[in-house]
Amino acid sequence: MKITVLGSGYVGLVAAAGFADAGHQVQCIDVDAARVAQLQKGEVPFFEPGLAEVLERVIRGGRLTFGTEIDREHRSSEVYFIAVGTPPLPDGSADISAVHVAARTLRDVVETPAVVGIKSTVPVGTCDGVQAIVDEGARHKLRVASVPEFLKEGTALADFMKPDRIILGVADAETERVLRDLYRPLQLSSERVLVMDRRSSELSKYASNSMLAVRISFMNELSRLCDAIGADIHAIRRAVGSDRRIGNQFLYSGPGYGGSCFPKDVSALAFRARAAGVPLEVVEAAGRANEAQKTYVRDRALSMLGEDVKGKVVAIWGVAFKAETDDVRETPALPLAKALVEAGAEVRIHDPEASANFIRWYNLPVKPFESEYDAATGADLVVVMTEWRHLRNPNFARLHSLMRTPNLFDARNIWTTFELNKAGFSYQGVGTNHGHT
Ligand SMILES: NC(=O)c1ccc[n+]([C@@H]2O[C@H](COP(=O)([O-])OP(=O)(O)OC[C@H]3O[C@@H](n4cnc5c(N)ncnc54)[C@H](O)[C@@H]3O)[C@@H](O)[C@H]2O)c1
Repeated sequence: MKITVLGSGYVGLVAAAGFADAGHQVQCIDVDAARVAQLQKGEVPFFEPGLAEVLERVIRGGRLTFGTEIDREHRSSEVYFIAVGTPPLPDGSADISAVHVAARTLRDVVETPAVVGIKSTVPVGTCDGVQAIVDEGARHKLRVASVPEFLKEGTALADFMKPDRIILGVADAETERVLRDLYRPLQLSSERVLVMDRRSSELSKYASNSMLAVRISFMNELSRLCDAIGADIHAIRRAVGSDRRIGNQFLYSGPGYGGSCFPKDVSALAFRARAAGVPLEVVEAAGRANEAQKTYVRDRALSMLGEDVKGKVVAIWGVAFKAETDDVRETPALPLAKALVEAGAEVRIHDPEASANFIRWYNLPVKPFESEYDAATGADLVVVMTEWRHLRNPNFARLHSLMRTPNLFDARNIWTTFELNKAGFSYQGVGTNHGHT
């Protein structure tokens, strides 16, 4: 099928590459001319495992092209996907202005009847609004559908190609038929399509992300309780997660969730629910608990430096909001780095992919290091903020010999209290400080 994707970010580019790899003919457009120029030269604008290889293949095969405008050929696409950003506004609601701009572009340039699938995460009712925009003075019928995306940065391609479910929020049977056709190559092994109305589909995406955020916040609050009353969060996680009704995924305590989705989606859902007169107490609490966790981790790490932080040297290992991505949006490393800089510490960062983004986005006086050991040389504290694989088992003897003061704060609970205390480090995790795991 011939399709067009608007937006070449984490979602748009992965979707465009994935659909092209499944044999569709795709154009991916973006208003960011610099990004399009990069893509046209075959450069991948962000780090996502496996994406470069797939892009290379589909570009070489002539199934994916890029532009700042929809080319003549693609003005008669069968499906257009809107995958533009929906960042938070200061009041916590989602800014859907880019979705509206994209909708007006489609209304003005599309030359045949088509389906418009909204992949961006958008508040309930957005499809209705976009339908009104594309209907206004339309030359051709554009049928709007909600097709939320559930991919995760770090495993985005695999998630896209083999999703747990494909939700189609549609208002008519013909739209369902077209979208089922489009997704057919991605579900040869088993049918994963769930069809529903557009509003339920829009809400499904927020409900899924909020449920995950609630699980994380629940475990994070328990980790603080563990520290306060002398229990071990690892043991609690295993005990809780072995109940099949609960399951063992998403039960890890840590520095608080970040990224471009959970924080903004939790606050946007809470905002939408309040506006509807049905406040979601659990969702709101998850957001508050997350802020409290970031503060807790920041303060606990700082307290390892003693009263006077000025002149102390701190290495932050990992600044991406999670492993396997270069995304630093809402990363929990930010409040920590800020507090350290404000207190007069020398802050060094090590991250295999995200250091440049961190410095570019946040403009803090921190120094990047390729090597985690170089970053730790002469340091008074190493804080692990991202669970990159190579950080899970460093050479602790070497690390000990390099540091000025052997303080470790493990915000991801990837090391073990007992071993490290024995090895001469002063070591703290999150909710693990009384356990011997
Ligand atoms: N990042 C994720 O893991 C993820 C997962 C699922 C859903 N989502 C949702 O998908 C949407 C996109 O997220 P993202 O992380 O890819 O965003 P992003 O910020 O990485 O990319 C958005 C892109 O859209 C472009 N854009 C803006 N207006 C445009 C227009 N009118 N026409 C064409 N391009 C335009 C921007 O220049 C940018 O390159 C958001 O609503 C997000 O909540 C994200």
